[in-house]
Amino acid sequence: MTVITFTVSVLCLLPQAVLARWACVRACPASCSCTQEKSCSVLCDRTHMAELPKEFPCEASAINLDKNSLKFLSERAFGTLPSLKSLSLGHNNISFITPGAFKGLTNLVELKMAHNDYICYLHTRTFTGLKKLMRLDVSNCNLFNIPDRIFIDQPALRELFCFENNFRRIPGAFRGMENLTHIYLERNKIEAVAYNSLLGLTRLKYLNLQENRINVIHDQSFQDLVRLENFYLNDNQLTDLPRFAFKGISCLKMLNLGGNKLINVSKTWFSDLVELEVLYLDRNQLLNIEEGTFENLTSLITLHLNSNNLTTLPFPVFQPVYFLGRLFLFRNPWECDCSLEWLKEWMESYKLVRDIPCASPSSVAGLDLGQVVFAKSNGTCVDPGELNLTTVSSEIVSTTENRFNSLISKLLQQELREEMGNGTESLRNGTLQELEDGLLSAGVGGWRAHASQSLLCVVVSWFILALIGQSDIYYCLSCT
Ligand SMILES: *[C@@H]1O[C@H](CO)[C@@H](O)[C@H](O)[C@H]1NC(C)=O
Ligand SMILES: *[C@@H]1O[C@H](CO)[C@@H](O)[C@H](O)[C@H]1NC(C)=O
Ligand SMILES: *[C@@H]1O[C@H](CO)[C@@H](O)[C@H](O)[C@H]1NC(C)=O
Ligand SMILES: *[C@@H]1O[C@H](CO)[C@@H](O)[C@H](O)[C@H]1NC(C)=O
Ligand SMILES: *[C@@H]1O[C@H](CO)[C@@H](O)[C@H](O)[C@H]1NC(C)=O
Ligand SMILES: *[C@@H]1O[C@H](CO)[C@@H](O)[C@H](O)[C@H]1NC(C)=O
Ligand SMILES: *[C@@H]1O[C@H](CO)[C@@H](O)[C@H](O)[C@H]1NC(C)=O
Ligand SMILES: *[C@@H]1O[C@H](CO)[C@@H](O)[C@H](O)[C@H]1NC(C)=O
Ligand SMILES: *[C@@H]1O[C@H](CO)[C@@H](O)[C@H](O)[C@H]1NC(C)=O
Repeated sequence: MTVITFTVSVLCLLPQAVLARWACVRACPASCSCTQEKSCSVLCDRTHMAELPKEFPCEASAINLDKNSLKFLSERAFGTLPSLKSLSLGHNNISFITPGAFKGLTNLVELKMAHNDYICYLHTRTFTGLKKLMRLDVSNCNLFNIPDRIFIDQPALRELFCFENNFRRIPGAFRGMENLTHIYLERNKIEAVAYNSLLGLTRLKYLNLQENRINVIHDQSFQDLVRLENFYLNDNQLTDLPRFAFKGISCLKMLNLGGNKLINVSKTWFSDLVELEVLYLDRNQLLNIEEGTFENLTSLITLHLNSNNLTTLPFPVFQPVYFLGRLFLFRNPWECDCSLEWLKEWMESYKLVRDIPCASPSSVAGLDLGQVVFAKSNGTCVDPGELNLTTVSSEIVSTTENRFNSLISKLLQQELREEMGNGTESLRNGTLQELEDGLLSAGVGGWRAHASQSLLCVVVSWFILALIGQSDIYYCLSCT
């Protein structure tokens, strides 16, 4: 005790500091320290303090009262502390803050009040007097809303930590706060983003709305976020987005839309995002990605499409983007037919993607796309088959019958004459001889698939020939 007081007295040379010291020392004898002449820190965290001391050293620049048992802040609770820059009241049990509690802290830059589980209400005048406040942390409290005009006195506010509260909408108080650069609103209960929720936030760089319940985003909600760089919208309930949702927010570097319920990706969504480097679309239910979707993402490095319902990924969807980084495609029911041949080749050439498990056709189900050997017939890729030739069973017959029946119905329609009219072309590309050649030359991996295909063709052709009696026309081509 004497040692601490002695040190403190030596360091805080001003006489009034020595006097003020006593208040502090009395409040928390073991941990009060004053580190520099003009920058005195009051470290009184974890001291079972249930009530604030009557006075603090008036030259204090930082006060840490974390992890105490404070319940209540009265008006001017801290007196007048013109040097105070940082005040920390986290992990207490504050349930009521009298309006004007922080009056007198005119130069406070940072106020931390996280983890006060019983704060569910803040008065319009709660922060009155904090004219220099730049960083406010009210995360992990129990706030449902805050008054619209609560920050009227805090024009310099830049960073707002409001995560893990009970907000049902984006507080109107944020509107027009042009100096805000960071907003943390993750893990609340926000259900919608209205067109005016984020108006005027022209300096915002970071917006976190992850793990809310957002199911609607209104048109042009993000139009003012012209400097936004990191945007977390993941783990919400979005099934769709407005066509021009991200229009104009051309500084965006990271966009996280993972963990929603998106089904279709529209090509208009990302058309302005020329700076975007990382895009998360994982853990949705994507079935379709429109051609041109990634066309303007010329800075894209990483694309996460894993854990969706994608069966195919047409090459034009990616043109002309040439990724410098990585493409994540695992956990999708890929249909590894010839339409994915480009992806296999791309995978092998650039090694930027791996783990593309095939769900179909059955002959390659369970394999990775990288292991699938595509059979070639006269240089053209032949899709792996659905049938399992090792079990010549009724399954094959019924499948064959189905295909045959659909062919018959096709033939019975008007297409008959046209297809016959164009038959010379079919003949050239699809003779039986050629298919048999293909069968022999197909690689080991593709053998079964190819064989089934060919057998089917032979059978179908035979039926058709018998039916229409045209010995010079082969319909094998219709099978592939
Ligand atoms: C914290 O405050 C609430 C309500 O004011 C009270 O019910 C609770 O018992 C307090 N908890 C502690 C640990 O003091
Ligand atoms: C933003 O900060 C500047 C300078 O600190 C200030 O002049 C301006 O009024 C602030 N803007 C708002 C909307 O408070
Ligand atoms: C997705 O796209 C398909 C085909 O373009 C369309 O039929 C379907 O209605 C779309 N679904 C949604 C949810 O937009
Ligand atoms: C890409 O950007 C150009 C120029 O801004 C635009 O005309 C085009 O529509 C964009 N493409 C897509 C798919 O939105
Ligand atoms: C996506 O796949 C999951 C699981 O297989 C399924 O429950 C869900 O209905 C599918 N979604 C769509 C849009 O097909
Ligand atoms: C084909 O059938 C055999 C016998 O039922 C089975 O062992 C094999 O795994 C099947 N192959 C495929 C690719 O389904
Ligand atoms: C294979 O295709 C080429 C054109 O790509 C054609 O000229 C050639 O005749 C075909 N070969 C057979 C055996 O049909
Ligand atoms: C047959 O060829 C004609 C023109 O020669 C074309 O209009 C028609 O679509 C073709 N039919 C088929 C089934 O390809
Ligand atoms: C036949 O092969 C030629 C050249 O390989 C191709 O251009 C044409 O589209 C093929 N015809 C059919 C009906 O697939």
